[in-house]
Amino acid sequence: MLKGKTIVVGVCGGIAAYKSADIISKLKKLNAELHVIMTRSAREFISPLTFQSLSQNYVIYDMFQEPRSWEIEHISLAQKADLFIVVPATANMIGKIANGIADDMLSTTIMATKSPVIIAPAMNCDMFENIIVQKNIQRLQALGYIFVEPQVGRLACGDIGQGKLADVDDIIEIIKQTVAFDKDLKDLNVLVTAGPTREAIDPVRFITNHSSGKMGYSIAKVAKYRGAKVTLVSGPTNLKPIKGIQMIDVNSALEMYEAVMAHFEEADIIIKAAAVSDYRPLKSEKHKIKKQQNDLEIQLTKNPDILMELGKKVTNQVLIGFSMETQLLKEYAKEKLIKKNLDLIVANNLSEKGAGFAVDTNIATLINKNGDIENMPIMTKDELAYVILDKALAIHKKKH
Ligand SMILES: Cc1cc2nc3c(=O)[nH]c(=O)nc-3n(C[C@H](O)[C@H](O)[C@H](O)COP(=O)(O)O)c2cc1C
Repeated sequence: MLKGKTIVVGVCGGIAAYKSADIISKLKKLNAELHVIMTRSAREFISPLTFQSLSQNYVIYDMFQEPRSWEIEHISLAQKADLFIVVPATANMIGKIANGIADDMLSTTIMATKSPVIIAPAMNCDMFENIIVQKNIQRLQALGYIFVEPQVGRLACGDIGQGKLADVDDIIEIIKQTVAFDKDLKDLNVLVTAGPTREAIDPVRFITNHSSGKMGYSIAKVAKYRGAKVTLVSGPTNLKPIKGIQMIDVNSALEMYEAVMAHFEEADIIIKAAAVSDYRPLKSEKHKIKKQQNDLEIQLTKNPDILMELGKKVTNQVLIGFSMETQLLKEYAKEKLIKKNLDLIVANNLSEKGAGFAVDTNIATLINKNGDIENMPIMTKDELAYVILDKALAIHKKKH
């Protein structure tokens, strides 16, 4: 995902310095080209050898280190960088950058770069609350520096408060979002639905399905990475909410219908990846149904068909649906595409290994309005999300 991207990681002198080793290791696995600059204080906490091994590049920590090439290191690195990340960022380093001080290799290289700079602070909560630190952060934010808020928690010094380095995976997400994708969906509103719905039988029981929500969440996340304004209407899932998008949590198909209809008009692209229950119990009992001697019959009534309703309403918006089948995949998918007035249908066969619910991969067949059929190979749901959004963008361009 980060192949061909050069990321410079600045490590400062704080307890959380060891966590940057994890970040560098994860970025390497995403195929980024990595360079590490350590401050003098950082070397009191962790050895440059650790970063050298993980980044597979020399670690720079001294302005006046014996040069390894004719290039002036801080300038060449500053120019080469697609992204800079300072992690952990000390109060001292934030203060230096905010005030234009360039008295070590890290602050000097940051001063010379035109790439985006992400700053992930970690410090004692009283330091973080200090008005000088806060003013420095505000000043840098106003200048376009991207901050990853520290978490509230128990700090290394024993205090409890805000100052703990943000979650490593959240930092990686922000890096990906900043550097991995072209912002080709900028200015577009993308409405996505994900997950199952729950249809209440009584206050403790419900009808649902095996949808994990992973496909819809991948689409929402990748759309956000590509600069879209995303609204995600999600049924109940175990997935982490996606930061930086509008999340609307719903339970039942009726709630999902309401939420989708409320946001449909402003959407340019609508992708319905949710597995909405076709039926709900006709009557949801007010009190728990007690066990009885005989069998119990629950009468089901039809839920509104959200995709069909959208198909009737769309004007020049792009409407994409999903079809999950266990047989006659292409036939059923084509029928659904026409009946519901979709621009594209993403069909997958639940019985194929590596496709369908809960897994991280999918094997999809894409069918468009012209009847063109594309069989996609097995790929991650993030990769498939990328392909679907490419198609959505192309259809959107055609319609406008
Ligand atoms: C044990 C120890 C832990 C420290 N942890 C932090 C920290 O988490 N955040 C911070 O801003 N400063 C911390 N400091 C203070 C910095 O190391 C100090 O301000 C130093 O000048 C920062 O240098 P640098 O910004 O060049 O890395 C710590 C100091 C010590 C001795």
